[in-house]
Amino acid sequence: MFFTLEGSEGVGKSTLIESLKDFFKENKIDFLFTREPGGTKEGQEIRKILLDQSLDLNPYMETFLLLADRIQHVEKIIRPALQKNKHVLSDRYVESTFAYQGAGRGLNQRELEGFIKNLNFPKPNLTIYLDLPVQEGLKRVKNRGKTDRFEREDLIFFEKIRNFYLDLVKKDPQRYFLIDASIPIDEVFRLAKDRILKELNEQ
Ligand code: TYD
Repeated sequence: MFFTLEGSEGVGKSTLIESLKDFFKENKIDFLFTREPGGTKEGQEIRKILLDQSLDLNPYMETFLLLADRIQHVEKIIRPALQKNKHVLSDRYVESTFAYQGAGRGLNQRELEGFIKNLNFPKPNLTIYLDLPVQEGLKRVKNRGKTDRFEREDLIFFEKIRNFYLDLVKKDPQRYFLIDASIPIDEVFRLAKDRILKELNEQ
């Protein structure tokens, strides 16, 4: 089965992923963890450009770099794993593009859908969305120190992104599972793990 994890900056995706990795390893459940952008060696090069603060990327250039990264990621990592009946969890995927480039940068969502539809990316069974008030997340990011090209954006940019994700969850609560990321981290882990196990058991 195919799972993805979404959220804005500083919501604790990385911490959750570490706990999930440990859990599935201990329980001998074959899970592949991967991420975007930069899930492949080639994608790592694209990631460097995307996060480079000294570059001023046109929003379409940004979008097509992300899609180029995803094409390589899907064909080299995700699709082969799914074909071998492995479970996959990707830290960010298609929803990030609609949230950041669509809602955040303001590209037309229909136009984005058009670009993406033709690429035939596999559809996740479940997307977990970690939700946190924007200011809270940005505070956590600032405490980490150095910020990247996305993290230097203003509050409004991240508010648009958050509202987009909240809307997605509202429209399709079966496909999107919201976790309030302001609760203790082991609670976040327990909710995510239980929801994934439920999905695997119902397979
Ligand atoms: P990363 O360091 O992985 O950030 P995070 O820890 O927040 O996941 O950087 C990825 C950045 O790329 C993140 O700010 C969101 C952005 N992004 C997009 O704008 N569109 C996309 O489609 C994807 C996959 C990522």
